[in-house]
Amino acid sequence: MPDRSTEPAAQVSRARLAELITREQATYRSRHPRSAEAFGAGGTHLLGGVPMTWMRMWSGGFPLYLDSASGARLTDIDGNEFIDFCLGDTGAMAGHSPAAVQAAVMHRYADLGGATTMLPTKDAGWVAAELTRRFGATHWSFTLTATDANRWALRLARQLTRRPRVLVFSFCYHGSVDEAFLVATPGGPQTRDGNVGAPVDPRETTRVVEFNDAESLDRELASGDVAAVLMEPALTNIGIVLPEPGYLASVRALTRRHGCLLINDETHTFSAGPGGCTRAWQLAPDMVTIGKCIAGGIPAGAFGLSAELADQILADKSADIIDSGGVGGTLAGNALSVAAMRATLEHVLTDAAFDGMISVADRYTAGVRDVLANRKLPWTVTQLGARAEYRFCAHPPRSGGESAAAADPDLDEYLHLYLLNRGILLTPFHNMALMCPETTMGDADAHTEVFDQAAAELLG
Ligand SMILES: Cc1ncc(COP(=O)(O)O)c(C=O)c1O
Repeated sequence: MPDRSTEPAAQVSRARLAELITREQATYRSRHPRSAEAFGAGGTHLLGGVPMTWMRMWSGGFPLYLDSASGARLTDIDGNEFIDFCLGDTGAMAGHSPAAVQAAVMHRYADLGGATTMLPTKDAGWVAAELTRRFGATHWSFTLTATDANRWALRLARQLTRRPRVLVFSFCYHGSVDEAFLVATPGGPQTRDGNVGAPVDPRETTRVVEFNDAESLDRELASGDVAAVLMEPALTNIGIVLPEPGYLASVRALTRRHGCLLINDETHTFSAGPGGCTRAWQLAPDMVTIGKCIAGGIPAGAFGLSAELADQILADKSADIIDSGGVGGTLAGNALSVAAMRATLEHVLTDAAFDGMISVADRYTAGVRDVLANRKLPWTVTQLGARAEYRFCAHPPRSGGESAAAADPDLDEYLHLYLLNRGILLTPFHNMALMCPETTMGDADAHTEVFDQAAAELLG
């Protein structure tokens, strides 16, 4: 391949981009009359016209309405079929309705009966042992969402350390966890734009630093008031920001030196392999949290901690973790979601499945990289196992702040619509593509082809 590194980068004309967005919006409307009608008619009594307000995030003015989904494919109510690289923003990383989970859910709900009983089932012990094999933490408890797994891990961390604050990374996302909505700015920490009805100013509960900046982390932890660092081992909610060599070892050393706990949120970074980044990179956090896809799309989450911390919390007479102490959920650990977790981990998101998913993601990433090089587009693509994402900057961002500065909502809208109009679905919040066990090399190549056409039209 010729060396193009010295050639000037291609320029995107904003006027052309605006024209193309208008054209793609019109195509979108013409391809989805039934979705448009459903949105108009069905939305009257829905807040924001949708069942959950983030569903407004789809480009095109109204969301697609789902008809059916299977594996890596999804069909809307207008009969359009899509290769689904969004996969429910990771909730469906096991693929849509995998057969083993269907069978387990039917067996539990229809044959045996009893989804929610406040009684344990034997599946729970199996799932906990499997999570231990994968992530190392030895004692597990279940939730219904990753948000709750994080919320409860933070409560336990404060209880265990008797310290009030948590530390997060700028532009992280850990679900609707109050403490996490703080960003680092040159003028000091600021509540994140749009933070809805915050119970208290997050500066009272939280310290924040940029990812890949060990010096700032050391300084903030030296205050001695941080119970836990809550982190994704690689940021995945502001593009993908990978840790620089040695950075995660510094985080572990600094948290130990300053006496605070380290929580790895593996909800998205699970894409790195069967035990997420924790296993892939041999990390040793004190707690692990996870959710979204671990029950094949049925609501479930989990948090795990070391035996030592488990003993401490169980022996703590001032911690009510059984009744109304702030850690709980009536439906958490219910028989249905635990059965679905077991089926997903035992039969779907297996060690072998990850090998296949990651090979497809390698192909996807190489395809995007070729397009960027051939078209001389000054963008970058970053892969984390079965997940990849492009970002509108020439070099991979080092921190959440750097990545946020590369955001370009118009380019996002154009690419999302262009791909959507040609049968390819990316995650609406960003340019993330995820592979499930049924995503094929052909699917990755289909994306490359359409992405190349989108780039060619953009450059005119
Ligand atoms: C890293 C991470 N943790 C936790 C969550 C929360 O997941 P949920 O909204 O399913 O509770 C998210 C959601 O995007 C996430 O990206």
